[in-house]
Amino acid sequence: MRILGIETSCDESSVAYLDIRSGQVRRSVHLVSTQEIHRKYGGVVPEVAAREHAVTLPPLLFELAERVTGEADGRQLGRLVDLIAATRGPGLVTSLRVGLDTARTLAAAWGKRIVGVNHIEAHVCSGFLPASGEGPLPRGRGLFPALVLVVSGGHTELLLMSGHRRFRLLGATKDDAAGEAFDKTAKLMGLGYPGGPAISALARKGNPRTFEFPRPLIHRSDHDFSFSGLKTAVRYFLRDRQENLDDERFLADVAASVEQAIVDVLVTKTLRAARAERVRTVMLAGGVAANRKLRQELKEQVAAGPLKMRYVEPPLDYCTDNAMMVALAAYYRLRPWSRGDSWVGMEADPSWELGR
Ligand code: KG4
Ligand code: ZN
Repeated sequence: MRILGIETSCDESSVAYLDIRSGQVRRSVHLVSTQEIHRKYGGVVPEVAAREHAVTLPPLLFELAERVTGEADGRQLGRLVDLIAATRGPGLVTSLRVGLDTARTLAAAWGKRIVGVNHIEAHVCSGFLPASGEGPLPRGRGLFPALVLVVSGGHTELLLMSGHRRFRLLGATKDDAAGEAFDKTAKLMGLGYPGGPAISALARKGNPRTFEFPRPLIHRSDHDFSFSGLKTAVRYFLRDRQENLDDERFLADVAASVEQAIVDVLVTKTLRAARAERVRTVMLAGGVAANRKLRQELKEQVAAGPLKMRYVEPPLDYCTDNAMMVALAAYYRLRPWSRGDSWVGMEADPSWELGR
Protein backbone atom coordinates (compact mmCIF):
# COMPACT_ATOMS: atom_id res chain seq x y z
CA MET A 1 0.00 0.00 0.00
CA ARG A 2 1.41 3.37 -1.09
CA ILE A 3 0.01 6.24 0.92
CA LEU A 4 0.15 10.00 0.52
CA GLY A 5 -0.30 11.66 3.95
CA ILE A 6 -1.30 15.28 4.63
CA GLU A 7 -1.27 16.98 8.04
CA THR A 8 -2.48 20.55 8.67
CA SER A 9 -4.28 20.41 12.03
CA CYS A 10 -2.32 23.22 13.69
CA ASP A 11 0.81 25.14 12.63
CA GLU A 12 2.87 22.51 10.80
CA SER A 13 2.20 21.90 7.12
CA SER A 14 3.40 18.40 6.38
CA VAL A 15 3.22 15.84 3.57
CA ALA A 16 4.57 12.30 3.45
CA TYR A 17 4.85 9.28 1.22
CA LEU A 18 4.75 5.85 2.85
CA ASP A 19 5.12 2.55 1.02
CA ILE A 20 4.22 -0.50 3.15
CA ARG A 21 4.33 -4.05 1.85
CA SER A 22 3.95 -7.28 3.90
CA GLY A 23 4.16 -5.36 7.18
CA GLN A 24 7.42 -3.65 6.17
CA VAL A 25 7.99 0.03 5.51
CA ARG A 26 9.79 -0.10 2.14
CA ARG A 27 10.07 3.61 1.58
CA SER A 28 9.24 6.80 3.43
CA VAL A 29 9.66 10.41 2.38
CA HIS A 30 8.64 13.16 4.71
CA LEU A 31 8.50 16.99 4.57
CA VAL A 32 7.49 19.42 7.32
CA SER A 33 7.22 23.18 7.16
CA THR A 34 6.83 24.88 10.55
CA GLN A 35 5.01 28.20 10.45
CA GLU A 36 7.51 30.58 12.02
CA ILE A 37 5.10 33.51 11.66
CA HIS A 38 3.32 32.63 14.95
CA ARG A 39 6.43 33.35 17.01
CA LYS A 40 5.79 37.06 16.80
CA TYR A 41 2.27 36.56 18.21
CA GLY A 42 3.47 34.23 21.00
CA GLY A 43 1.00 31.50 19.97
CA VAL A 44 -0.92 30.12 17.00
CA VAL A 45 -3.39 32.52 15.33
CA PRO A 46 -5.97 30.26 13.60
CA GLU A 47 -6.74 32.44 10.56
CA VAL A 48 -3.06 33.06 9.91
CA ALA A 49 -2.33 29.33 10.24
CA ALA A 50 -4.96 28.40 7.64
CA ARG A 51 -3.67 30.99 5.19
CA GLU A 52 -0.11 29.74 5.66
CA HIS A 53 -1.22 26.13 4.98
CA ALA A 54 -2.93 27.26 1.77
CA VAL A 55 0.27 28.98 0.64
CA THR A 56 2.67 26.20 1.70
CA LEU A 57 0.89 22.98 0.81
CA PRO A 58 1.02 23.08 -3.04
CA PRO A 59 4.82 23.67 -3.26
CA LEU A 60 5.38 21.14 -0.48
CA LEU A 61 3.39 18.53 -2.44
CA PHE A 62 5.34 19.38 -5.56
CA GLU A 63 8.63 18.89 -3.71
CA LEU A 64 7.36 15.56 -2.36
CA ALA A 65 6.44 14.48 -5.91
CA GLU A 66 9.93 15.39 -7.06
CA ARG A 67 11.55 13.45 -4.22
CA VAL A 68 9.36 10.36 -4.75
CA THR A 69 9.41 10.19 -8.55
CA GLY A 70 12.77 11.82 -9.24
CA GLU A 71 11.10 14.12 -11.74
CA ALA A 72 10.02 17.76 -11.54
CA ASP A 73 6.56 16.76 -12.71
CA GLY A 74 3.81 16.67 -10.08
CA ARG A 75 1.52 14.50 -12.27
CA GLN A 76 3.74 11.46 -11.85
CA LEU A 77 3.03 11.16 -8.12
CA GLY A 78 -0.60 10.06 -8.68
CA ARG A 79 0.62 6.90 -10.46
CA LEU A 80 2.56 5.83 -7.37
CA VAL A 81 -0.21 6.40 -4.81
CA ASP A 82 -2.97 3.95 -3.77
CA LEU A 83 -4.48 5.88 -0.89
CA ILE A 84 -4.67 9.49 0.29
CA ALA A 85 -4.79 10.21 4.04
CA ALA A 86 -5.51 13.54 5.67
CA THR A 87 -6.12 14.67 9.23
CA ARG A 88 -9.84 15.29 9.74
CA GLY A 89 -9.71 16.32 13.44
CA PRO A 90 -9.22 17.30 16.19
CA GLY A 91 -7.55 20.62 15.46
CA LEU A 92 -8.18 24.13 14.15
CA VAL A 93 -11.13 23.87 11.80
CA THR A 94 -9.86 26.27 9.14
CA SER A 95 -6.42 24.63 9.13
CA LEU A 96 -7.93 21.14 8.93
CA ARG A 97 -10.06 22.25 5.96
CA VAL A 98 -7.04 23.25 3.88
CA GLY A 99 -5.38 19.82 4.21
CA LEU A 100 -8.62 17.91 3.89
CA ASP A 101 -9.77 19.80 0.80
CA THR A 102 -6.38 19.35 -0.84
CA ALA A 103 -6.67 15.59 -0.17
CA ARG A 104 -10.27 15.48 -1.46
CA THR A 105 -9.28 17.29 -4.64
CA LEU A 106 -6.41 14.89 -5.31
CA ALA A 107 -8.61 11.87 -4.53
CA ALA A 108 -11.25 13.09 -6.99
CA ALA A 109 -8.74 14.02 -9.70
CA TRP A 110 -6.65 10.85 -9.42
CA GLY A 111 -9.56 8.51 -8.65
CA LYS A 112 -7.97 7.27 -5.41
CA ARG A 113 -9.33 6.07 -2.09
CA ILE A 114 -9.22 8.55 0.77
CA VAL A 115 -9.20 8.16 4.56
CA GLY A 116 -9.84 10.92 7.12
CA VAL A 117 -7.56 10.35 10.11
CA ASN A 118 -7.90 11.25 13.77
CA HIS A 119 -4.91 13.37 14.79
CA ILE A 120 -4.50 11.70 18.20
CA GLU A 121 -4.67 8.23 16.66
CA ALA A 122 -1.96 9.40 14.25
CA HIS A 123 0.24 10.48 17.18
CA VAL A 124 -0.25 7.03 18.73
CA CYS A 125 0.81 5.40 15.45
CA SER A 126 4.04 7.45 15.37
CA GLY A 127 5.39 4.98 17.95
CA PHE A 128 5.19 2.18 15.36
CA LEU A 129 7.27 4.00 12.74
CA PRO A 130 10.78 2.56 12.26
CA ALA A 131 13.41 5.08 13.41
CA SER A 132 15.48 4.71 10.25
CA GLY A 133 12.45 5.35 8.02
CA GLU A 134 12.42 1.76 6.74
CA GLY A 135 11.93 -1.63 8.36
CA PRO A 136 9.27 -3.86 9.93
CA LEU A 137 6.19 -2.56 11.73
CA PRO A 138 5.73 -4.13 15.19
CA ARG A 139 3.48 -7.17 15.37
CA GLY A 140 0.19 -6.65 17.21
CA ARG A 141 0.55 -9.88 19.16
CA GLY A 142 2.38 -9.19 22.41
CA LEU A 143 1.79 -5.45 22.11
CA PHE A 144 -1.78 -5.13 23.41
CA PRO A 145 -3.33 -4.17 25.73
CA ALA A 146 -1.26 -1.00 25.66
CA LEU A 147 -1.51 2.17 27.69
CA VAL A 148 -0.75 5.35 25.72
CA LEU A 149 0.21 8.64 27.30
CA VAL A 150 -0.70 11.30 24.73
CA VAL A 151 0.96 14.63 25.50
CA SER A 152 0.68 17.43 22.96
CA GLY A 153 -0.09 21.15 22.80
CA GLY A 154 -3.83 20.53 22.98
CA HIS A 155 -4.16 17.11 24.63
CA THR A 156 -3.03 15.19 27.70
CA GLU A 157 -4.72 11.82 27.84
CA LEU A 158 -4.28 8.26 28.98
CA LEU A 159 -5.75 5.89 26.40
CA LEU A 160 -6.17 2.16 26.79
CA MET A 161 -5.57 0.44 23.48
CA SER A 162 -6.85 -3.12 23.07
CA GLY A 163 -5.85 -3.33 19.40
CA HIS A 164 -5.21 -1.08 16.43
CA ARG A 165 -8.14 1.38 16.19
CA ARG A 166 -9.57 0.24 19.55
CA PHE A 167 -9.28 2.93 22.17
CA ARG A 168 -10.82 3.68 25.57
CA LEU A 169 -10.19 7.00 27.25
CA LEU A 170 -9.11 6.46 30.87
CA GLY A 171 -8.37 10.06 31.81
CA ALA A 172 -7.59 13.49 30.42
CA THR A 173 -6.61 16.95 31.54
CA LYS A 174 -9.29 19.05 33.19
CA ASP A 175 -7.70 22.30 32.00
CA ASP A 176 -4.30 22.92 30.35
CA ALA A 177 -2.46 20.24 28.37
CA ALA A 178 1.13 19.31 29.27
CA GLY A 179 2.41 21.08 26.14
CA GLU A 180 0.47 24.18 27.16
CA ALA A 181 2.09 24.04 30.59
CA PHE A 182 5.49 24.15 28.86
CA ASP A 183 4.39 26.87 26.42
CA LYS A 184 2.78 29.14 29.03
CA THR A 185 5.68 28.81 31.47
CA ALA A 186 8.10 29.64 28.67
CA LYS A 187 6.05 32.73 27.82
CA LEU A 188 6.16 33.89 31.46
CA MET A 189 9.93 33.44 31.38
CA GLY A 190 10.25 35.36 28.11
CA LEU A 191 11.46 32.31 26.16
CA GLY A 192 9.08 32.65 23.18
CA TYR A 193 6.92 30.14 21.32
CA PRO A 194 6.83 27.13 21.16
CA GLY A 195 7.98 26.84 24.75
CA GLY A 196 8.59 23.11 25.15
CA PRO A 197 11.87 22.89 23.23
CA ALA A 198 13.09 26.18 24.81
CA ILE A 199 12.32 25.05 28.38
CA SER A 200 13.89 21.64 27.91
CA ALA A 201 17.06 23.14 26.34
CA LEU A 202 17.42 25.60 29.24
CA ALA A 203 16.56 22.92 31.80
CA ARG A 204 19.64 20.93 30.86
CA LYS A 205 21.79 23.66 32.39
CA GLY A 206 19.76 23.81 35.62
CA ASN A 207 19.15 21.82 38.77
CA PRO A 208 15.64 20.25 38.85
CA ARG A 209 15.60 20.08 42.67
CA THR A 210 16.17 23.82 43.29
CA PHE A 211 12.52 24.90 43.45
CA GLU A 212 9.50 22.85 44.50
CA PHE A 213 6.58 23.53 42.14
CA PRO A 214 3.14 21.91 42.58
CA ARG A 215 2.49 18.49 41.07
CA PRO A 216 -1.29 18.67 40.61
CA LEU A 217 -3.37 15.48 41.14
CA ILE A 218 -0.23 13.33 41.46
CA HIS A 219 -1.59 11.44 44.47
CA ARG A 220 -5.13 10.99 43.15
CA SER A 221 -5.94 7.45 42.05
CA ASP A 222 -8.04 8.55 39.04
CA HIS A 223 -6.36 9.07 35.67
CA ASP A 224 -7.08 12.77 35.16
CA PHE A 225 -4.56 15.62 34.96
CA SER A 226 -4.55 19.34 35.70
CA PHE A 227 -1.77 21.77 34.84
CA SER A 228 -3.30 25.24 35.18
CA GLY A 229 -2.34 25.46 38.89
CA LEU A 230 1.30 24.86 38.02
CA LYS A 231 1.25 27.72 35.52
CA THR A 232 -0.32 30.05 38.14
CA ALA A 233 2.28 29.00 40.73
CA VAL A 234 5.08 29.84 38.28
CA ARG A 235 3.46 33.21 37.50
CA TYR A 236 3.42 34.26 41.20
CA PHE A 237 6.86 32.79 41.80
CA LEU A 238 8.37 34.88 38.99
CA ARG A 239 6.40 38.01 39.98
CA ASP A 240 8.06 37.91 43.39
CA ARG A 241 11.56 37.47 41.93
CA GLN A 242 11.71 40.15 39.25
CA GLU A 243 15.27 41.02 40.21
CA ASN A 244 16.43 37.50 39.21
CA LEU A 245 14.94 37.45 35.72
CA ASP A 246 18.21 38.41 34.05
CA ASP A 247 20.12 35.70 35.88
CA GLU A 248 20.80 32.78 33.48
CA ARG A 249 21.47 30.36 36.31
CA PHE A 250 18.20 31.22 38.05
CA LEU A 251 16.18 30.79 34.83
CA ALA A 252 17.85 27.44 34.13
CA ASP A 253 16.95 26.22 37.64
CA VAL A 254 13.32 27.38 37.19
CA ALA A 255 13.10 25.65 33.78
CA ALA A 256 14.57 22.43 35.20
CA SER A 257 12.28 22.50 38.25
CA VAL A 258 9.13 23.13 36.16
CA GLU A 259 10.10 20.38 33.72
CA GLN A 260 10.67 17.99 36.64
CA ALA A 261 7.24 18.80 38.11
CA ILE A 262 5.48 18.09 34.78
CA VAL A 263 7.49 14.90 34.16
CA ASP A 264 6.87 13.61 37.71
CA VAL A 265 3.09 13.96 37.29
CA LEU A 266 3.06 12.35 33.84
CA VAL A 267 5.30 9.41 34.78
CA THR A 268 3.65 8.68 38.14
CA LYS A 269 0.12 8.72 36.76
CA THR A 270 1.02 6.69 33.67
CA LEU A 271 2.65 3.94 35.72
CA ARG A 272 -0.26 3.85 38.16
CA ALA A 273 -2.72 3.40 35.26
CA ALA A 274 -0.48 0.81 33.59
CA ARG A 275 -0.41 -1.29 36.77
CA ALA A 276 -4.16 -0.92 37.33
CA GLU A 277 -4.96 -2.03 33.78
CA ARG A 278 -2.24 -4.72 33.72
CA VAL A 279 -1.09 -3.68 30.26
CA ARG A 280 1.68 -5.30 28.24
CA THR A 281 3.01 -2.08 26.76
CA VAL A 282 3.39 1.56 27.78
CA MET A 283 3.50 4.00 24.88
CA LEU A 284 4.37 7.68 24.68
CA ALA A 285 2.93 9.97 21.96
CA GLY A 286 2.49 13.65 21.00
CA GLY A 287 4.77 16.69 20.68
CA VAL A 288 5.88 16.56 24.33
CA ALA A 289 7.19 13.03 23.64
CA ALA A 290 10.20 14.89 22.18
CA ASN A 291 11.14 15.86 25.74
CA ARG A 292 14.28 13.94 26.65
CA LYS A 293 13.68 13.94 30.39
CA LEU A 294 10.18 12.51 29.93
CA ARG A 295 11.46 9.84 27.51
CA GLN A 296 14.28 8.84 29.85
CA GLU A 297 12.27 8.73 33.10
CA LEU A 298 9.27 6.91 31.61
CA LYS A 299 11.53 4.36 29.96
CA GLU A 300 13.51 3.78 33.17
CA GLN A 301 10.46 3.42 35.36
CA VAL A 302 8.68 1.05 32.99
CA ALA A 303 11.83 -1.11 32.92
CA ALA A 304 12.18 -0.99 36.73
CA GLY A 305 8.62 -2.20 37.38
CA PRO A 306 7.91 -5.83 38.28
CA LEU A 307 5.43 -6.36 35.42
CA LYS A 308 7.95 -6.66 32.56
CA MET A 309 6.07 -4.19 30.41
CA ARG A 310 7.34 -3.13 27.02
CA TYR A 311 8.04 0.55 26.34
CA VAL A 312 7.41 2.19 22.94
CA GLU A 313 8.25 5.79 22.05
CA PRO A 314 8.16 7.61 18.70
CA PRO A 315 11.45 8.36 16.93
CA LEU A 316 12.39 12.00 17.70
CA ASP A 317 11.58 13.11 14.14
CA TYR A 318 7.97 11.95 14.44
CA CYS A 319 6.96 13.35 17.87
CA THR A 320 5.63 16.75 16.82
CA ASP A 321 2.99 17.04 14.11
CA ASN A 322 3.92 15.27 10.87
CA ALA A 323 2.20 13.61 7.93
CA MET A 324 4.08 10.30 8.24
CA MET A 325 2.08 9.34 11.31
CA VAL A 326 -1.11 10.32 9.46
CA ALA A 327 -0.23 8.00 6.58
CA LEU A 328 0.48 5.13 9.00
CA ALA A 329 -2.79 5.70 10.89
CA ALA A 330 -4.65 5.42 7.56
CA TYR A 331 -2.85 2.13 6.86
CA TYR A 332 -4.16 0.67 10.13
CA ARG A 333 -7.62 2.22 9.67
CA LEU A 334 -8.28 0.99 6.13
CA ARG A 335 -9.49 -2.57 5.85
CA PRO A 336 -8.52 -4.40 2.62
CA TRP A 337 -12.16 -4.71 1.54
CA SER A 338 -13.07 -1.13 2.43
CA ARG A 339 -13.51 1.60 -0.16
CA GLY A 340 -12.35 4.21 2.36
CA ASP A 341 -14.27 7.40 3.06
CA SER A 342 -16.22 9.34 0.48
CA TRP A 343 -14.42 12.48 -0.69
CA VAL A 344 -17.75 14.01 -1.63
CA GLY A 345 -19.18 14.86 1.76
CA MET A 346 -16.11 14.63 3.95
CA GLU A 347 -16.08 17.24 6.72
CA ALA A 348 -13.44 18.34 9.19
CA ASP A 349 -14.28 17.43 12.78
CA PRO A 350 -12.38 19.89 15.02
CA SER A 351 -13.46 18.22 18.28
CA TRP A 352 -13.27 14.54 17.24
CA GLU A 353 -12.63 12.59 20.47
CA LEU A 354 -10.95 9.23 20.58
CA GLY A 355 -12.10 6.46 22.88
CA ARG A 356 -15.04 8.06 24.68
O1 KG4 B 1 1.71 17.30 18.94
P1 KG4 B 1 2.18 18.67 18.72
O2 KG4 B 1 3.25 18.91 17.67
O3 KG4 B 1 0.98 19.61 18.35
C1 KG4 B 1 -0.29 19.40 18.86
O4 KG4 B 1 -0.98 18.48 18.40
O5 KG4 B 1 -0.61 20.14 19.82
O6 KG4 B 1 2.68 19.23 20.13
C2 KG4 B 1 3.17 20.51 20.28
C3 KG4 B 1 3.55 20.70 21.73
C4 KG4 B 1 3.89 22.15 22.07
O7 KG4 B 1 3.18 22.50 23.24
C5 KG4 B 1 5.39 22.10 22.30
O8 KG4 B 1 5.84 23.07 23.23
C6 KG4 B 1 5.57 20.69 22.83
O9 KG4 B 1 4.72 19.92 22.03
N1 KG4 B 1 6.96 20.23 22.70
C7 KG4 B 1 7.76 19.95 23.76
C8 KG4 B 1 9.03 19.59 23.22
N2 KG4 B 1 8.94 19.65 21.86
C9 KG4 B 1 7.67 20.03 21.56
N3 KG4 B 1 7.52 19.99 25.08
C10 KG4 B 1 8.53 19.66 25.91
N4 KG4 B 1 9.75 19.32 25.48
C11 KG4 B 1 10.05 19.27 24.16
N5 KG4 B 1 11.28 18.93 23.76
ZN1 ZN C 1 -0.29 16.99 17.44
